[in-house]
Amino acid sequence: MLSFGRARTQPRAVRPTTMGGIDFVDPKRKGNFVGKLFLAGSLIALCILTIKQSPHFNSASRFALREPGVTHVLVTGGAGYIGSHATLRLLRENYRVTIVDNLSRGNLGAVRVLQDLFPEPGRLQFIYADLGDAKSVNKIFSENKFDAVMHFAAVAYVGESTMDPLKYYHNITSNTLLVLESMAKHDVKTLIYSSTCATYGEPTKMPITEETTQVPINPYGKAKKMAEDIILDFSKTSEMAVMILRYFNVIGSDPEGRLGEAPRPELREQGRISGACFDAARGIIPGLKVRGTDYKTADGTCVRDYIDVTDLVDAHVKALQKAQPGKVGIYNVGTGKGSSVKEFVAACKKATGVDIKVDFLPRRPGDYAEVYSDPTKIKHELNWTAKHIDLKESLSIAWRWQKSHRDGYGIPNVIFGII
Ligand SMILES: NC(=O)c1ccc[n+]([C@@H]2O[C@H](COP(=O)([O-])OP(=O)(O)OC[C@H]3O[C@@H](n4cnc5c(N)ncnc54)[C@H](O)[C@@H]3O)[C@@H](O)[C@H]2O)c1
Repeated sequence: MLSFGRARTQPRAVRPTTMGGIDFVDPKRKGNFVGKLFLAGSLIALCILTIKQSPHFNSASRFALREPGVTHVLVTGGAGYIGSHATLRLLRENYRVTIVDNLSRGNLGAVRVLQDLFPEPGRLQFIYADLGDAKSVNKIFSENKFDAVMHFAAVAYVGESTMDPLKYYHNITSNTLLVLESMAKHDVKTLIYSSTCATYGEPTKMPITEETTQVPINPYGKAKKMAEDIILDFSKTSEMAVMILRYFNVIGSDPEGRLGEAPRPELREQGRISGACFDAARGIIPGLKVRGTDYKTADGTCVRDYIDVTDLVDAHVKALQKAQPGKVGIYNVGTGKGSSVKEFVAACKKATGVDIKVDFLPRRPGDYAEVYSDPTKIKHELNWTAKHIDLKESLSIAWRWQKSHRDGYGIPNVIFGII
């Protein structure tokens, strides 16, 4: 596989304040006086601007009410890559959406794109909060009437999880418990949970079905499996409708070029293959390092199942529509087809038009040869199949966004003192 380094950012506790239709929360953080003054000034300026621009200004919060015919979805992690794409799709389908994100990894710029696309009152609100803060979570659920939760928010890098496991158990497992407790307390009826193929570990038999035994081998996969177990145990005693979606490797971006994947520069090296390919194509890194060419696969490099984010989001909407009270659905979300690293790199070269330099190195310990899904169950039960299965096409779309957004979303979260 490709070679990745590591970096970390730490989510911080938060203190909520409400302004018009947009909630912002001050991070409780130490800093010098001048820094605090600058932060306060920036916040006030931004808040005035936001309130002036906000169509929710002077309108009662519709987010606090249940309205017949309107489904209000809480999207945790909605400022992130997949969550922002899911929000776009939900808004397009007339759902009401509240995003909760601590911007530790997401982008305020993505939220602004969504707000600009759907400025009408009662469509989208953004709450800046940390899901590790029980008081904030409870307040959010007390002040809003959610019909469903799509719980995307998580730290999500395998390599980082091995270096900082407690962060992963806290952020994934413990935060999911808090969200679930609040859902139960406030009678929220549906949960769509973002899980991962990393919960399966290293199965010997391919393709992976939902029956494949889950033996995760890193803290990321273990934290997600624990969160799944908590949800499953809880659902035995509850009428909540639950869907657990185990994604394979997510790529691509909005075909209309409104959203993209913009990880923090310090996280780029962590690791997603598409990000590394684009960084190499843009000359940010000198080239790609492919680790292992002697696996028992057709061309010797590792094989993975790449799912386009548009298809993934489609699976979420179908899951939401088909979720049934008192029932749990568990589904793999993949294409069912594996592609090798060499194939991926070839597709990336074609998509970017850049002859990316590739170094082939010995295997990295812990990488497994082949991982791909059996998506039969989701096809039969949710009538979902992956449609965007041409790697080059998915990468071309993502590359278009990357090329026109050299600085990601361009709005620095630094204005909130987050980074
Ligand atoms: N990208 C993939 O290939 C992939 C594969 C399998 C599963 N997943 C899962 O999908 C979900 C979304 O992943 P992504 O790729 O969009 O990641 P991402 O980092 O782009 O988005 C995650 C979002 O969650 C937010 N967040 C993190 N901790 C938070 C906290 N404590 N409180 C509030 N917000 C918090 C971040 O700021 C970020 O906006 C994750 O649960 C991840 O485990 C992703």
